[in-house]
Amino acid sequence: MVVRTIITGATGSMGAAACEALAAKGVAVLMACRNIKKAEAVRDGILSRYPAADIEIRQLDLCSMASVREFAESVAPGSVDAIFHNAGAISRRYELTADGLEKTFSTNYFGPWLLTSLLLSKMPQDARIVSMVSLSCRYVTLCEHDLQPTEKDFSQLGSYARSKRALLSFSLELARRNPGLRVNLADPGIVATGLIDLGHWFDPLTDFLFKPFCNSPEKGVQPALRALEASQTSPRYYVGKGAKTIPGRYLTPELDAKIWAGTEAVLSE
Ligand SMILES: NC(=O)c1ccc[n+]([C@@H]2O[C@H](COP(=O)([O-])OP(=O)(O)OC[C@H]3O[C@@H](n4cnc5c(N)ncnc54)[C@H](OP(=O)(O)O)[C@@H]3O)[C@@H](O)[C@H]2O)c1
Repeated sequence: MVVRTIITGATGSMGAAACEALAAKGVAVLMACRNIKKAEAVRDGILSRYPAADIEIRQLDLCSMASVREFAESVAPGSVDAIFHNAGAISRRYELTADGLEKTFSTNYFGPWLLTSLLLSKMPQDARIVSMVSLSCRYVTLCEHDLQPTEKDFSQLGSYARSKRALLSFSLELARRNPGLRVNLADPGIVATGLIDLGHWFDPLTDFLFKPFCNSPEKGVQPALRALEASQTSPRYYVGKGAKTIPGRYLTPELDAKIWAGTEAVLSE
């Protein structure tokens, strides 16, 4: 039986849709959000439709490792058995967090990495961990030096894709190190949300031309919802209506081990 699912970024388009879909099924949800007012509005909307929903809100800013630690400390052992790493961002410019991490990498990779590591011992050995990745992962290569891009290395989409590729690598290495865990990847396709506005003057034009052909948030989140119900312990790639074996291009155990070690080194600095 599912105890409680953490959804990061539950104020976002797909996060809120996931929250509502789980609440509708009677699954308790812990919304892990940086903006509490926005989270309360999402929760209140869901409660108006599902009055019996069990939804809690707690502060989590993935651009602050102190916030990640504080959040993890607030979780009681045995109170959570699934994490949906849904929060994600595409930074418009090169910026470092107070921890010295590039912001896109902090949100999409280091925050989820640290959160999972801190919560593992508080969750059952067959806990579910689902990470939202992206088709952009297939267009980039990754090495351990990419975890901390310099300003010269940075580009909006390049850093986003590499941070998601790192999350994918982390998920597969996590599954190797913890064979009982149910770790899976979800790819929502291209979804009409604010995330894909890159701050260009022509965004309204591309929105007009492009967004009608994108998935809705409710549709985009379906692969993740199916991944959250998965019972198998070998990771799968949920996309569209299917659940594929992990594509060969992502089967890079040596790289995954190096990325893991590199991450530990960065986070212990
Ligand atoms: N949209 C797409 O086409 C697409 C495609 C592939 C993958 N994805 C992935 O799907 C996931 C959901 O994206 P979406 O399209 O639903 O985007 P969204 O509507 O922009 O939602 C993003 C969520 O992440 C949260 N977030 C951002 N930075 C954070 C931080 N530092 N700490 C905590 N939370 C933070 C946002 O919080 P605030 O509400 O406070 O801003 C928001 O709740 C992301 O991981 C994204 O990379 C999206």
